[in-house]
Amino acid sequence: QTPEATVIGLVGGTGDLARRMVIPGCFHLMVAGLLPEQCRIVGLALDDLDDDGFKEVVRHSLDEHARIAVEDEAWERFAAIISFARAQDASDYKTAFEQAEHALGGAPRRLFHLAVPPSAAASVVRTIQDAGLADKDRTRVILEKPFGTDLESARALNAGLHEVLDEGQIFRIDHFLGKEGLQNILALRFANAFIEPVFNRDHVDSIQIDVPEQLTIVGRAGFYEQTGCLKDMVTTHLLQVLGFVAMEPPVSLAPEPLRDRTGDVFASLQPIDPADVVYGQYDGYRDEPGVAPDSSVETFVAARVEIDSWRWAGVPIFLRTGKGMAVSRETVTVVFKEPPMQLFEHAPEVHDARNALRFELHDPPGIALEFLGKQPGPHLTVEESELDFGVRAADRDKLLAPYERLFHDALVGDQTLFTRADGVERVWEVAAPLLAHPPAPKPYAQGSWGPDEAQQLTGPRGWELSARH
Ligand code: BG6
Repeated sequence: QTPEATVIGLVGGTGDLARRMVIPGCFHLMVAGLLPEQCRIVGLALDDLDDDGFKEVVRHSLDEHARIAVEDEAWERFAAIISFARAQDASDYKTAFEQAEHALGGAPRRLFHLAVPPSAAASVVRTIQDAGLADKDRTRVILEKPFGTDLESARALNAGLHEVLDEGQIFRIDHFLGKEGLQNILALRFANAFIEPVFNRDHVDSIQIDVPEQLTIVGRAGFYEQTGCLKDMVTTHLLQVLGFVAMEPPVSLAPEPLRDRTGDVFASLQPIDPADVVYGQYDGYRDEPGVAPDSSVETFVAARVEIDSWRWAGVPIFLRTGKGMAVSRETVTVVFKEPPMQLFEHAPEVHDARNALRFELHDPPGIALEFLGKQPGPHLTVEESELDFGVRAADRDKLLAPYERLFHDALVGDQTLFTRADGVERVWEVAAPLLAHPPAPKPYAQGSWGPDEAQQLTGPRGWELSARH
């Protein structure tokens, strides 16, 4: 699908997120031929810059963050569609868009990306309306997480947005849903016949969504002290991923049927019991510049959640993520039950006879099936074996980074991979007991797997990543 002529408005276009993700994303889309042929990008921010000053910011952002070489010809094409407006109020937005729309001619679409804190989102949307730029048939708005900080604020935010925009104009971005590896989950489950019959409580022992990060919060203290790991990663990315892992087959991949099914997962997700959660804080967090010396913000969360549905009742779902951990990985592991009897002798390193299906979400994505295979040699002994699927090296440059895919989807108006108001609100409802009674974070060493208490959550089998990979 080719996007129609569009003026892209980057609100907060000089900020960190725009420079790290959004601007390089737009550049790659242009190089890949996925930006509209008729396109303008308008940076909107409070900085005292003119067009050339903003172009310098853009060029720096590409030099630092573009994942392909910035050829002169491509840069010139990109620079030619960029402008900047020092945007304080509606009239500044109006003037900037009038100029850009005039340059394109006709009545182009408008796509705003709001790189602003959640508390500012509704007021920016009102400014867009006051500028006369919120037309239902022309304007789309991309919003960044977190969508509120609890149920009440999420409801207020959604209500504020809905005063101006229809739900069909709102694109709540959760970049994990733009990962190729996540779409692999959909493809494996619903393009094949062999997985679905065993993808349920009769055959699945447990599910683990495990996203350890080596990175600390360096340089992001201001954001992190306000947000913490639960809101930064769990109520957003990890639970959204769970929506795809656990969903019923949708009637089609169109936005509403698909979002109805992830919505069912959130609806049957049980409120999180604080007793099933371990919070951690890495040693040295309180010494990071900008962090309060007595901060009780969690940098690690491990949790056990349950989905009370016909398919998943009784299957424990383990979530884990944290900063300053031993490795950086993004995995979903579906652990199957043991076979009813053990016929074979096990090689000494075999832990148990359970199979596991592992999805690697980070690029390049992968899928692995762990099973017991025969050990070569005279005996009928079995050893741990793995079937591995990875993206062929030759196909790697076809991968779109998450922001690129999602930006492109927003340009063509496809909401399939964006979260819907009801889903967002339900997730906050599920997290409410934990927000009301957060456990005190336990200390853990940087470079470790988090506090010891988190090891016990999963029972004797442990966390797949730390135990096996
Ligand atoms: C962001 C979080 O949304 O996702 C970060 O704010 C986190 O704290 C990041 O590091 C992880 O995303 P990715 O795509 O780098 O794995």
